[in-house]
Parts: sequence; structure tokens; C-alpha cells
Amino acid sequence: MNGEHVSEEQFRRALAGHAAGVVVVTAAVEDVPVGLTATSFSSVSLRPPLVSFYIGQSSSTWPWLRKADRFAVNVLAGDQADLAARFAGANGDRFGPPTLWRTDHLGTPLLDGVAVHLTCSPYTTADIGDHVLVVGLVTGTRIAESGEPLLYHQGRFGQFTPDGR
Ligand SMILES: Cc1cc2nc3c(=O)[nH]c(=O)nc-3n(C[C@H](O)[C@H](O)[C@H](O)COP(=O)(O)O)c2cc1C
Repeated sequence: MNGEHVSEEQFRRALAGHAAGVVVVTAAVEDVPVGLTATSFSSVSLRPPLVSFYIGQSSSTWPWLRKADRFAVNVLAGDQADLAARFAGANGDRFGPPTLWRTDHLGTPLLDGVAVHLTCSPYTTADIGDHVLVVGLVTGTRIAESGEPLLYHQGRFGQFTPDGR
């Protein structure tokens, strides 16, 4: 154990041991879809129904996303590792082929084939370290019947295996 200081490498290695579900946050600003992959998604409150994620201050998506008056959290299904990588990648049109998506009745982009959709309106944000905490009020949900999730652990994507009990 290190006393007061944790190096960035130690910090990254420790957090790589935390398995997390994977979401893609999507929104449309002036009809242009934006989105990025995040594992920092979490539930926050039941009454009212709040969820959160953290987005890097240096994210090129954040200046757009912060302008959106609604956004969607797409909880990725176990077979969507390619989609997760595409929405984290520096190059390419994230919403171009082969990404399959549509918009809901309010124009929010929704990815096809995901385990769960949560549609949200912005509730609050807070600057925390080098990230921004984004809290959303959940205004709608859609849950797929076979909702096996995608997980991220030790820098790799994988699928959830129930222990059978
Ligand atoms: C598995 C995984 C999880 C990620 N989680 C987050 C996250 O929670 N918050 C975040 O800001 N970026 C996260 N990223 C990075 C973003 O997906 C994206 O690569 C980065 O923000 C650069 O793209 P941008 O300029 O569009 O933001 C994650 C990337 C991967 C591969």
C-alpha cells in the first residue's frame, strides 16, 4: 500500500479491476447526432428517478452534449462490443454505417439492438476533477426481452455469465 500518493498507472490498474456495464450516451443537437461510450454510468435516485455519468472535460462530444435538452442512455447488449469501440473511437462517423439507429418521437437518437434505453432530460451537472458529472432525470425506459449486458473489465469487453443459482 502506498501512503498518500497513488500514481496514475496504479490508479488505472486498480480501476481496471472494476467490471462495469457499458452504455452509449446519445443526443441530437440541431439535428446532428452525437454520442460516446461510457462505463461511468450509475443509478442515483429512485424518487425522482435519476441516473448519472461522468464525461471528460476534454471530450469533443461534451460541448455538443451539454447543449442538448434531452439525451438517451443506451445500455449495450452482450454482442455490441464493436459498437462500444466505435463510439469511443477518434476516427469515423459514429452514426454512419454499420451503426443502426433511429430517432424517438422527440428526435433523440436511439441505438438498435441494445439491452435498455433510458431517455433523460438534463437535471444537473457538476465539475468534478477532470470530468463533469452529468445527472439526468429519466423520462422513459424501454427494456429488451433478452437483455444480456456488455461488460468491460481489465481493458476488454465481455459478456455476463450468471452463476446458475
Ligand atoms: C470502455 C470505455 C469506457 C469509457 N467510459 C467513459 C466515460 O465514462 N466517460 C468519458 O468521458 N469517456 C469514456 N470513455 C471514452 C469515450 O468513449 C471517448 O473515447 C472519449 O471521450 C473521446 O471521444 P470524444 O472526444 O467524442 O469524447 C470510455 C471509453 C471506453 C472504451
